[in-house]
Amino acid sequence: MSSKKELKFTVNGQPYDLFVKPNTLLVEVIRNELGLTGTKRACNSSSCGACTVIMDGLAVKSCSVLALQANGREITTVEGLAKDGKLDPIQKAFLDHGAYQCGFCTPGMLMSSKALFNDNPTPTKMEIKEALDGNLCRCTGYNSIIRALMDVAKGEYKEDKVG
Ligand code: FES
Ligand code: FES
Repeated sequence: MSSKKELKFTVNGQPYDLFVKPNTLLVEVIRNELGLTGTKRACNSSSCGACTVIMDGLAVKSCSVLALQANGREITTVEGLAKDGKLDPIQKAFLDHGAYQCGFCTPGMLMSSKALFNDNPTPTKMEIKEALDGNLCRCTGYNSIIRALMDVAKGEYKEDKVG
């Protein structure tokens, strides 16, 4: 059995220092060690996007990243989106537009969207579709998700407009 190695990283602004096996996946540490079960694990093969988190500003599929590859990095999970009890504007838009049904894909959708808007606050519809290219949803047909994100892009969910 391979010996554990030190993993020091930040998740949702909180520093962690743990020991993990070299073959442990980032999604396993997030869910099993840190108890942040908002990040979902489904296909386990980088196909569905349910496990998407943000690592140093980029949306990554945490089922396809070794935990040790996150050493020294900053991770944001869906639990890190709301601040001071207030939903992130993207979460609020999803809520208002009913952009979910079973909700299993939603954390990954939110994290891919957040990475997009951090980089480009006014994406086009095509840019939104491209950003969500790796996130599958079996329920919504995507239209409500795209409508929600288009409203965010139009400025409908700026901080001062979010109730
Ligand atoms: S569980 Fe990671 S992409 Fe599906
Ligand atoms: S809401 Fe069910 S998979 Fe997207």
